[in-house]
Amino acid sequence: MNMNKMNISEEKISKLRRSQKVLVFTGAGISKESGIPTFRGDDGLWKKFSPQELANFDSFYENPALVSEWYQHRRDIIEDVEPNPAHNALVEMEKYYSDFTITTQNVDDLHNRAGSREVLELHGNIMRNYCIECGKEFSPSQFQKLYSQNEDHISRCDQCHGLIRPDVVWFGEQLPQKALQKSFDKARKCDLCFSIGTSAQIRPAADIPRIAAQNGAFLVEINPNKTSLSSQTNLSLKGKAGELLPALVDIIKKENGS
Ligand code: OAD
Repeated sequence: MNMNKMNISEEKISKLRRSQKVLVFTGAGISKESGIPTFRGDDGLWKKFSPQELANFDSFYENPALVSEWYQHRRDIIEDVEPNPAHNALVEMEKYYSDFTITTQNVDDLHNRAGSREVLELHGNIMRNYCIECGKEFSPSQFQKLYSQNEDHISRCDQCHGLIRPDVVWFGEQLPQKALQKSFDKARKCDLCFSIGTSAQIRPAADIPRIAAQNGAFLVEINPNKTSLSSQTNLSLKGKAGELLPALVDIIKKENGS
């Protein structure tokens, strides 16, 4: 992609290059080009499935087979796909800043698989699972073994026989406090913040780019569509993250003589 087509002013390019502390806030849109559906788009998960039925603790407790099967279906999709050029561009980008953190609402593990070094997971990680009774954690392979042994799709702890659930945040549940507080702290201190592929609607995660902007960070949004955050951004790049992020990294690289 030709950067001139993006129409970024020299002043803004200079801001992108000179910043040192960077916080990247990501949502489902960054993984769309890998083949993982978003939540609220026309073909989004919440258009076809009900979060009330599938993404809260009471539903899981009442119908663990249904909820477990849905998460296994999502896991199967994730295992079949790869990080896309947007995830890879963020791995490249971290080389050019002294302080670089990704805080993601995604549970798909793709930032880790791409090789990003500092990833804060605000909504958990679908590949991890734990027992709701004794808290025992199950690695992806341990869980797969248990899951495939049970035809009824209900996985139980090999220690206490409690139900095993995905390590994700369901509606009505608290976000992991360490990841959230660290993200808020990074948001207060960063001088450049990216909001990529998120409708920025679900709080408290959606507060993060807003806190960054309120504390003086230069806020960049990458999204093909307008969001509730768009009016507060310093730079709005409309398009697919997988095309725009590699082009941005090329610009940042030049300053560093690469
Ligand atoms: P949404 O589905 O709400 O928003 C996805 C965003 O990605 C939209 O703004 C799209 O315009 C944008 N998008 C689509 N394709 C894109 C592309 N190729 N490049 C860049 N952007 C693109 O997903 P989230 O904002 O992540 O929470 O949703 C937040 C939370 O709501 C999720 O973490 C999940 C959900 O309920 C929990 O499960 C707790």
